[in-house]
Amino acid sequence: MAENDRDADVMRLYEQLVEIEQRLIPTGLHVFGRPAELKEKTDLLRMVASFDRPEHGTRALPKLVAEGLGIDGYDALLQEATASETKDLIDSIVLEGVQQFCREGAESAVAWLNSRAHVDREQSLPIFSLLANISDQLDSNNEIESLLCALRGEYIPPGPGADIVQNPNVLPTGRNTHAVNPYSVPSQMAFARAERTADALLRRHFEERGRYPRALALVLWGLDNIKTQGEGVAQALHLLGVRPVRDALNRATEIEIVPLEDLKHPRMDVVMTVSGIFRDLFAPTMALLDKAVRRVAALDEPFEMNYVRRNVAEKIELDGGEFDDAVARVFSNAPGNYGTNVNFMVMQSEWETADTLGDLFVTRKCFAYTRDSKGRTIEGREARDLMDHALSRVEATYQNIDSFEVGITDVDHYFEYLGGISKAVEKRAQARPAIYLSDSLSSQTKIRSLEETIRLETRAKTLNPKWYEGMLQHGFRGVAEIENHVANTFGWSATADAVDPWIYTDVAMTFLLDPEMFNRLQKLNPHSVRSLTKRLLEAHHRGFWNPKEEILEKLRDLIADLEDQREGVVSV
Ligand code: BEZ
Ligand code: MG
Repeated sequence: MAENDRDADVMRLYEQLVEIEQRLIPTGLHVFGRPAELKEKTDLLRMVASFDRPEHGTRALPKLVAEGLGIDGYDALLQEATASETKDLIDSIVLEGVQQFCREGAESAVAWLNSRAHVDREQSLPIFSLLANISDQLDSNNEIESLLCALRGEYIPPGPGADIVQNPNVLPTGRNTHAVNPYSVPSQMAFARAERTADALLRRHFEERGRYPRALALVLWGLDNIKTQGEGVAQALHLLGVRPVRDALNRATEIEIVPLEDLKHPRMDVVMTVSGIFRDLFAPTMALLDKAVRRVAALDEPFEMNYVRRNVAEKIELDGGEFDDAVARVFSNAPGNYGTNVNFMVMQSEWETADTLGDLFVTRKCFAYTRDSKGRTIEGREARDLMDHALSRVEATYQNIDSFEVGITDVDHYFEYLGGISKAVEKRAQARPAIYLSDSLSSQTKIRSLEETIRLETRAKTLNPKWYEGMLQHGFRGVAEIENHVANTFGWSATADAVDPWIYTDVAMTFLLDPEMFNRLQKLNPHSVRSLTKRLLEAHHRGFWNPKEEILEKLRDLIADLEDQREGVVSV
């Protein structure tokens, strides 16, 4: 190997290690009524301090440290390199400043940052005042009192629903969470942040496949768009090349077309599948998205710069249908229905061919939310053929991730949605789409392929002793969490064939074939141990994992023993 190649490989390896190391993970479950512990609090405060917060008149602490040290272009550093010595230095000073604050208070942290990195007291004090406020609220926990109030039918003060890092006003917890005003979505900040993410998504696809996708399928969730004030929605608008316009009542109800010459890319065609929760909360936003697609489809622009127009024209040419049908791009469940059921089918091992999962997704989600030729609203008309056709043009699927607390192997909803739609596309477009996730949870926007995201989550969580030991402190529930993670990982094999076989091998070695760990888990929760073992064997039967025969033998022996024990218990 040439020396240059070796150096580049070592650098890539280093960057990946840093990426795993820096990933925030919850180490243990939230215990209702218990305040955050010091380590968790420090991590949260550090994240809060790493964003500009114009609403609090504060700037990002890492930027202030960089400026104090005379380092130019911190923003560029964040966007370009995953790892660099300069960035490490800045991060370590920020961390130490926050630790100092947690130990000795704001004044001491301000003084320390001034002497260590020449950070101006006038700039840092407001940050630490904000952190002090958040820290107090993290320490006081009213969850149990509020629950008791609720049970007595008493008043509970309201509070916004969001992520602590994105909106610290969610604290204190234990309040009556309210959502957003749907007319305020997307906020200006969400729209500004979304531009970078949408551009990065298209850039990534272009780099990998040499062109832009003929169409994209996006998953939009309700809670995420509450937390981010509509970042997912804003990404869809950027891809279409439009911006929201507010009416006289400051409601985002209108669309303005961004001229082609101001766009960095052609107008993308986006097929949007929204969750039942999104549909219930964001009816005006669905109308806005539908309006945006219609306006774009009707523009007099060349096909190669307007993919919506091209795909709509193709559909009309194909079957002589109406413009108003061909342009439907916002789909969800039938009114009153929720979810795709793909997760239940996977968890219960009830599917035969992979197409079944994608077909189920479309059956559940093929209800169009649009308008008819007279402009009348259609709320959930079954439109399987329209969705089938729209998906047949899709070459990339995508979902925005906005929280480090809940990732794609923590719950079964990511694979039921993003996995489900990807499988549906695979059959209809006769090619597996590129599958992407963004991670807009740090100030650095990052697009990853599904495979990369699964690797990162597996290394940062499922196979990370810090994560699983944190879980195991919760006994029975902790083992169930480990088993859930493996089952959700399996869901990504089932829907998207996106799991590297080494992941299953390492899971087997770590949790089942290490006798000490196996005995610990078995004592805490034999039920989950049995499910975990069966899941790994299923991964093999279904062709997702083909380990050495001796591993399979051991797992088969284990399951035989576990079944024997279970029968023993039953017959006692
Ligand atoms: C949502 O927020 O829309 C959502 C939440 C959980 C599962 C699926 C969707
Ligand atoms: Mg989320």
